[in-house]
Parts: sequence; C-alpha cells; structure tokens
Amino acid sequence: MQLQRVQQVQPWIGRPEADALAACLERNWLTEGPAAAAFRQNLGQLTGSPHISFAPNGTLGLYLALLALDLPRGSEIVIPGFTFMASASAAIFAGLKPVLIDVDPHTFAARPEAFERAITPRTSALMPVHIYGQAANAAEIALIGKRHGLAVIEDAAQACGIRYRGQHAGTFGDIGVISFFADKSVTMGEGAVVMTRDPALARRVSLIRNQGRESSGSFVHEMLGMNFRVTDMQCAIGNAQLARLPQIRSDRLRRYNLYVEGLSGLPQLRFMKLDPNSDFIPFRFPILCPRMPELREALENASIQTRTMFYPLHRQPCLQGLVDPCDLPICDTLFGEGLCLPIHQGMSDEDVRRVIGIIRTTLTHESVTC
Ligand SMILES: Cc1ncc(COP(=O)(O)O)c(C=O)c1O
Repeated sequence: MQLQRVQQVQPWIGRPEADALAACLERNWLTEGPAAAAFRQNLGQLTGSPHISFAPNGTLGLYLALLALDLPRGSEIVIPGFTFMASASAAIFAGLKPVLIDVDPHTFAARPEAFERAITPRTSALMPVHIYGQAANAAEIALIGKRHGLAVIEDAAQACGIRYRGQHAGTFGDIGVISFFADKSVTMGEGAVVMTRDPALARRVSLIRNQGRESSGSFVHEMLGMNFRVTDMQCAIGNAQLARLPQIRSDRLRRYNLYVEGLSGLPQLRFMKLDPNSDFIPFRFPILCPRMPELREALENASIQTRTMFYPLHRQPCLQGLVDPCDLPICDTLFGEGLCLPIHQGMSDEDVRRVIGIIRTTLTHESVTC
C-alpha cells in the first residue's frame, strides 16, 4: 500500500473558512471592508495592540514598519543570525545595515545580553525574532532599546497567539509584525499585521500603506506611500482561522507531547528548550542530531517531508558584502544538526508515531559511514 506523503507544512482549511469566504463574496466587497474590520478587532483583542494595520505578507510588514520608523539610512540594526531571510532583507531594503548576533543554543532565540553587546554608536534599532512557536525575551530587549534610545521592531512572524509573561509577542517594542502565511499556525493565505501602541507611528504606517493618504477616496497625498493593502477575502479566512486557534493550539500540543514521549531516551537527540515565561504553540517539531542527514534521508524515503533549520544569515550568499563577517557558532550548529519535523493539523497521531518509529530505528542502528 502506497503511504500518503506527510508534508512539512499544510494549512488547516475547512468548512468555517469556506463559509466565511462565501459570505464575503456574497457581500460583494473585495477590498479591505467588513471582514478586515472584524479581523482587526479580533486581533486587537488577542494581542492587546491598540493600532493594527494589515500588510500583504510578513516581509512587506517588516519593511512597512521600518519605513514608518524612518531610521537613518546606513545605520545599524541588530538581528539574530538564526531567522528567516526576510528579517534581514526588509532591513536592507529600508536602507539599514544588519549586524548579526548569535542565539541561545537551547531556545534558539537571541538573548538580551547579545543584543546589548552588539550596540555601537551607529546602531538605530534592535530586531528580536520569535522563533518556532515561543517568544523571545522581547520585554528585556525593549528595555535595552529604551535605555540606549534605539527603536525596537519585533519579528513576530511565527508568533500569533504567543504571550511572554502574559503580554503578546510583537507588542513589547515600538512596532511588531505577525505573518499569516499559509505555513503559520493561523493563516490568511498571504498577509500580516503591523502592531504599535504609538499613535503617531500608527498614523505613519496607515499613510505609507495607503499611498500616503488618509482615505482611499481622496486624490490628495500627504506623503509618499505605496499600496500595502490586503483583501477582505483574506481577512475573512483569517477570522475563521483565528476562531479555531484554541483547537489548533491543543491539537499541536498533543502531537508535540507524542513526539517528546516517543523520542525521549535517545542520547543523540536534543529538543528545543521551552522558556517557562512564554506560551507555546508548536510551529514545527525541531530536533538537533549529529546524524541529521541520515535521519533526513530515512524520513524522506518514507514519504515524510522534512526541512533543515535556517541557513545562517552570516553565510547567505546574497548578504556577503552587506553584513560584516562574523562567527556565529550556534547558528552554524543549528543549521548543521537541526531538522524540522512536521506537526500540522493535516497529519494524524499515527503519522507522528510513524515518524518516531523511523527516527528510533535509524538512531538505534550503527551509522554505516566510516
Ligand atoms: C521569522 C520570520 N520572519 C519573517 C517572515 C516573512 O513572512 P512572510 O512569509 O509572510 O513574508 C517569516 C515567514 O516565514 C518568518 O518565519
């Protein structure tokens, strides 16, 4: 019997999303309208952020947030070396120079001390990144930013629904961005929100994203802007997804616990450590293993799609010459030994047990390489 391929990620779309989309089409309102207003309100309740604007995706959300911050061109922004490329590319397109720092080997997030050590007279901003379903200590990083007079922009692309000591990720600094891409725990297909508590910054975001004007009906443009708007159809899907967040959280946590139980006792495997101050909604199931390539091959041969962890930013071909050379040994280890196992709604508990079985079999056999 042919085994069904288990994808690395898979959106969880069903009747609620289809009904929300149909209602949106029946209203005949396609651009940001009633569904966007409802999604904004629901996200405000979830995050506690008073000012929420949409962006077409997390990458452009970070870019929009940085444009609104209006930081000096050529100034430095401190970014962890272990993150998706968009954290750095948004900064570079906004005219900034990324300064890369290493991350904590257990939580994979950059620690506040690492941010503080990287500050120079040229620094204008810090960018904490919340990774793999838990929050970084952005509370402390925001305080460091305040102490040094620096902007703090949080890349909370992966952190919808995640709180650190009770406060939502992305709301500690001056501005934060959550992505709703199709691989995120909550999706609107493509899309993101930019959140801030600062009304002046919120106004700049809303002008820049709407061609530099307050209202779409006007042809008077107060400042130069662009079009960063989304559609009501995306927001309708986002709303239906958000209502299912408690279910998404509990399903993923159940699978997470199955993985932890099934993979415990294998000395060659390490798991991401959970920070007790942070909520946790599993985003992937990340493991570290010196025999990662063998594991990856065994899983792929059994139709389980895996992903390595991020290729470290200091090694990215496109960043050579744009960032200073640096040593980030933990980022290197995470890429060399890290593997992301699937944990999405589309897989069954049986699929999880199958993944566990393949890993246990592979690791309890001697390596054939010499
Ligand atoms: C940490 C991080 N930052 C930024 C992004 C960019 O978000 P988007 O894919 O919505 O552009 C992602 C998306 O995967 C991400 O994981």
